[in-house]
Amino acid sequence: MSLRNTQTRFGLITKSLHWIIAIGLWALFFFGKYISNLELGPDNFHLIPRHKAFGILMLGLITIRILWRTTNPPPTALPAKPFEHLIAKLVHVALYILMLATPLFGWIGASATGFSIPFFGLFDIPLIWGEDEAVADLLLSLHGYSAMAMMALALLHIAAALYRHFIKRDETLRRMIR
Ligand code: HEM
Ligand code: HEM
Repeated sequence: MSLRNTQTRFGLITKSLHWIIAIGLWALFFFGKYISNLELGPDNFHLIPRHKAFGILMLGLITIRILWRTTNPPPTALPAKPFEHLIAKLVHVALYILMLATPLFGWIGASATGFSIPFFGLFDIPLIWGEDEAVADLLLSLHGYSAMAMMALALLHIAAALYRHFIKRDETLRRMIR
């Protein structure tokens, strides 16, 4: 199997990044919701640095994915109505923007709390904003909203993939899996 995309197929790198990031984002979304509803104390405080480290790891993979996408375009889209192509394109662009914005808002907001961001105990991720409670509150609430918008669009995206697989019965989903 080819590592790069061809005109008709997704390559192994695009497919692996798509599925690792899809699973990672859903996991981080539920993890984030879980910690934001907890009564934080000494027993569970370690969960926040874990969420931050996984989020930064995901931001790294998303950046690699976008760079890879710019040098390696996807295969030609399978036949569909022009408005379906347009909606698919808009949703993909919005997903890429939200995939970058969500962890970046989290990183700026977390930096502004003044707490360090350890990367799985290996080293500290640099803080990219000075300590500022107002910025932390604003950016972490934007972080929550943009995560919700991303997952809502991902649901629409999944519904479209399932529609093409089970109703239109074309190769769209199989191309992203096989
Ligand atoms: C793309 C990856 C990420 C996703 C999908 C995600 C998702 C979430 C969600 C859904 C929440 C709960 C928001 C709420 O309901 O109020 C949350 C909270 C939070 N996230 Fe993320 N996050 C990601 C990456 C990051 C990164 C990279 C950082 C920082 C380096 C971060 C730091 C935080 C912090 C500090 C909270 C607040 C926890 C609390 O309530 O005390 N997140 N995240
Ligand atoms: C958080 C979850 C997900 C995100 C953020 C996401 C994001 C994306 C993006 C941005 C693309 C466009 C690739 C490109 O052309 O550059 C894409 C393609 C695709 N995704 Fe997802 N995806 C997610 C989950 C899923 C799931 C669960 C499915 C299956 C049910 C799926 C099926 C597909 C398929 C079939 C394509 C190829 C579409 C085409 O050929 O035009 N995705 N995804």
